Amino acid sequence: MAIISSKKQPQEPNKQPKSHETQVTAKPDILQPEAAVDEGKQEESIRPHRFADYIGQKDLKDVLEIAIKAAQSRSEVLDHLLLYGPPGLGKTTMAMILASEMGVNYKITSAPALERPRDIVGLLVNLKPGDVLFIDEIHRLSRMTEEILYPAMEDYRLDITVGKGSSARIRSIPLSKFTLVGATTRVGALTSPLRDRFGLVQKLRFYEVEEMTQIIQRTAQLLQTPMTKDGATEIARRSRGTPRIGNRLLRRVRDYAEVKKSGEINETVAAEALQLFQVDPCGLDWTDRKMLSVIIEQFNGGPVGLETIAAATGEDTQTIEEVYEPYLMQIGYLSRTPRGRTATKAAYKHLGFTPPNEQMSLL
Ligand SMILES: Nc1ncnc2c1ncn2[C@@H]1O[C@H](COP(=O)(O)OP(=O)(O)OP(=O)(O)O)[C@@H](O)[C@H]1O
Ligand SMILES: [Mg+2]
Repeated sequence: MAIISSKKQPQEPNKQPKSHETQVTAKPDILQPEAAVDEGKQEESIRPHRFADYIGQKDLKDVLEIAIKAAQSRSEVLDHLLLYGPPGLGKTTMAMILASEMGVNYKITSAPALERPRDIVGLLVNLKPGDVLFIDEIHRLSRMTEEILYPAMEDYRLDITVGKGSSARIRSIPLSKFTLVGATTRVGALTSPLRDRFGLVQKLRFYEVEEMTQIIQRTAQLLQTPMTKDGATEIARRSRGTPRIGNRLLRRVRDYAEVKKSGEINETVAAEALQLFQVDPCGLDWTDRKMLSVIIEQFNGGPVGLETIAAATGEDTQTIEEVYEPYLMQIGYLSRTPRGRTATKAAYKHLGFTPPNEQMSLL
């Protein structure tokens, strides 16, 4: 079972491979928001541990800081918290910060590791008062595990069936009061009884370029890499508003600067390196560009159905919806309509096409 306790050396949970991770496509992995298998250790060394180091996500931080102060002043445990949003935006990091700000221990696991009921039971009975239990990919919990969680979350109680058939009885075991932090990239896939049991439901959003610049500057300092502010901004612009991607790009640019240049990262060095790694100035990769060009070239800008886009790019519909579309919508290149996806004027311009209404005026 993939359980990580704050008492031991924290590491990323063993994630089950997602369907798209096994596919071979023409795109560079450097822009995938999911963590690569060997990235865990590197991530740990740069992960912020206090609220003060957690850059951006102001709304989320404001809500949580109030919740923490209120819980502490009443000597209560923090309400259960559900964090949702695209991968690599800082959900796991926030769960760890919460535990350290509350001065409690945490345990990290992920839903696929809680297959059998005894997995979750074992975790729950070992929690100490106030502990944070973090369950990643919480939308993937099995039905049985979820049902065990309901009374545990609501009344801090485990209901266990003892015996079989007509002599079966339910025994209740009291649990320590704890905080469950759930993380998911797909909040819509959660059952409503589970979602309703979270007192706080918070969305993480993509980071602005200015915030990403600060994150990259912080990481460069930790890695002792000399970098100018312009260099950081250049990397930030191409990071898809995602700290995990920004930190990964920084490592690649650092390699390039050390091998090919004097070692300092400035705007030119960053741009050259990222061009070499085929990261476009907006952070778009092969699949993003393919999606947009299919909509523009083959369907006059849309609307186009999700299935059609998936077939044209060789990605599955879930990956398109969860990984690619959120960022393209965020930067205003794609819009979702009830009839399908459409490419915006900005997307036409970015890919070097003339937008349809401007074509008319040229005639
Ligand atoms: N607000 C932030 N400030 C600074 N660094 C951050 C911030 N958020 C995330 N990071 C960095 O990005 C990396 C990825 O964050 P994290 O593992 O918390 O993402 P996640 O949302 O849990 O992703 P996943 O959905 O894949 O589990 C971390 O190593 C951390 O260093
Ligand atoms: Mg995580």
